Amino acid sequence: MNAVVLLGPPGAGKGTVAEVLVGKGYKHVSTGDLLREQIRQETALGIEAKALMDQGKFVPDDVVVGMIRELFGAGKPGDKFLFDGFPRTLVQAEKLDELIGSLNGNLDEVVLLECPADAIVERLSGRRSCPECKTVYHVTFNPPKEAGVCDVDGTELIRRDDDNPETIRQRLTVYAEQTAPLITYYEAKDLVHPIDATQSIEQVRAAVLEKLG
Ligand code: AP5
Ligand code: MG
Repeated sequence: MNAVVLLGPPGAGKGTVAEVLVGKGYKHVSTGDLLREQIRQETALGIEAKALMDQGKFVPDDVVVGMIRELFGAGKPGDKFLFDGFPRTLVQAEKLDELIGSLNGNLDEVVLLECPADAIVERLSGRRSCPECKTVYHVTFNPPKEAGVCDVDGTELIRRDDDNPETIRQRLTVYAEQTAPLITYYEAKDLVHPIDATQSIEQVRAAVLEKLG
């Protein structure tokens, strides 16, 4: 089992980059998407998570680590996992190392998408997503062929509840406090590959594919 981590602030383009890696044999694991699916199904976990996500706060470590543990339990030896939005705290990073170690797997790379706050606000304010297949669009930078409709499955696109200015600010603060320290954690393991995520979607995807594709 091999794993790659996509690290970067909210709105840097983790989900957008992940879409092209899925075609290269990676299993895309977005803890945000998994949590939003729980919300959609109105599970107890989803109800607890929504209250936190709407405020831009993190869901507890044991909840997300539990989801990853379950996923690994159902995995196969040759799996290549692409983590998007996980790990997000040092505790989660240490747990991920433990879980990968217990499966004799390897964390190959940490791709860091670097993007300043002003670009992030612009990206998240115009984001639209498909609630079914999770494809991500932007009204200006990556519009669907027909406004408001998913190119892949024709589902009506939605705006995420946490993509409002106040929650975006809170998410950026939490990222700086709790997730940015992971850069040093992974640099010490010589795993970090930084990419300038202010480039166009095509350029960022090409840079990531060159590294991992
Ligand atoms: P999550 O869903 O992971 O959200 P996030 O980290 O805030 O990241 P986003 O999905 O908002 O951004 P992205 O980097 O994927 O960007 P995207 O490709 O969409 O998590 C949501 C919440 O769940 C968290 O706040 C937390 O509460 C909870 N949670 C999740 N995981 C957790 C964990 N491990 N522990 C605890 N809690 C957890 O792109 C954004 C927009 O920009 C799109 O419109 C896109 O089209 C556009 N775009 C992308 N790239 C470019 C480009 N190069 N140029 C121009 N536009 C671009
Ligand atoms: Mg995302």
